[in-house]
Amino acid sequence: MSSTQSFSAVKELVSSVRRVTLFNEKMSFYDTWAQNYDRDLAILGYDVASQAARSVSSCFRGDREAALVLDVACGTGLVAEQMKRDGFRHFVGIDGNKAMLEEARKKELYRDLKQFFLGEETLPVPAGSCDVVMMCGALSIDNVSVRVLRQLSAACRTGGLVCMTCRHSPDNRDYRASLEEELGAMEAEGLWSRENVILVESWLKDGGRDGDGAGDGDGDMGGDGDGNGDRGIDGDGDGGGGGDGGGYGDGGGGGDMGGDMSGDMGVDGYEDGAGDGDMGGDDGHGDGDGGSSVYLYRKL
Ligand SMILES: C[S@@+](CC[C@H](N)C(=O)[O-])C[C@H]1O[C@@H](n2cnc3c(N)ncnc32)[C@H](O)[C@@H]1O
Repeated sequence: MSSTQSFSAVKELVSSVRRVTLFNEKMSFYDTWAQNYDRDLAILGYDVASQAARSVSSCFRGDREAALVLDVACGTGLVAEQMKRDGFRHFVGIDGNKAMLEEARKKELYRDLKQFFLGEETLPVPAGSCDVVMMCGALSIDNVSVRVLRQLSAACRTGGLVCMTCRHSPDNRDYRASLEEELGAMEAEGLWSRENVILVESWLKDGGRDGDGAGDGDGDMGGDGDGNGDRGIDGDGDGGGGGDGGGYGDGGGGGDMGGDMSGDMGVDGYEDGAGDGDMGGDDGHGDGDGGSSVYLYRKL
């Protein structure tokens, strides 16, 4: 893979991986991307793995130095890198891609790294053996069925945490809706309880600079999901008029209307902790490109 350095080149690269819908082709893409993955995500300002790690860190109870963290779809190990800064020490990583695992191995963070394709098979760890189970950046339409959530839960011990991220983008909207349905169904079954949901703002928010949109199209809406609902209100949509210039407001819906609506709904989303996307999509909030939800559940 050629070296990619500018923001727009990396953005195009990430968009192209999303356009690959066949699983094997996607894995081949990771083969060629693995060595540049960390650098490219740093260029994008991709922050989802560290936000997920922080979310766990703020809710974890117990001895984190002794805790075992299972990092599912670990890629090159960005999640473990961040969690190590937060005091966690023991990591097992699982991923389907050998080249990504190789990059993770070089960091010497994991006590074990396993090549494993997520699917119907039970995860290759004993049930209930992990204090924390992470799955960042891999819950999407072409990667894995939402049934994997039950496997994540099964790997976690009672009282432990399961943290998952899911991106907001038009092509992942239906998947994310099914994911949220499954999260809710599992809560109703008493398998886990929700600790929090954080909305991570779009790393594509700078995309407006590419000149294809008329403004920031409401990238402000995201907020920090800390339960205060204090940042959502401003989702102004002043850019309006469409373009893909920004974050969650992709398409905007135009002017004040888009802005007011997305702002208000953003607040509601945080108040109930349920995240944002259910409300929207084409109307100026919810499914614009580049943002992600970080879901944190406690195993019951
Ligand atoms: C975008 S990367 C995320 C890596 C890391 N968690 C992070 O946040 O940087 C997605 C990873 O998921 C892995 N992956 C996607 N679908 C998978 C599947 N069905 N089975 C195993 N690994 C999969 C890919 O190989 C890739 O390493």
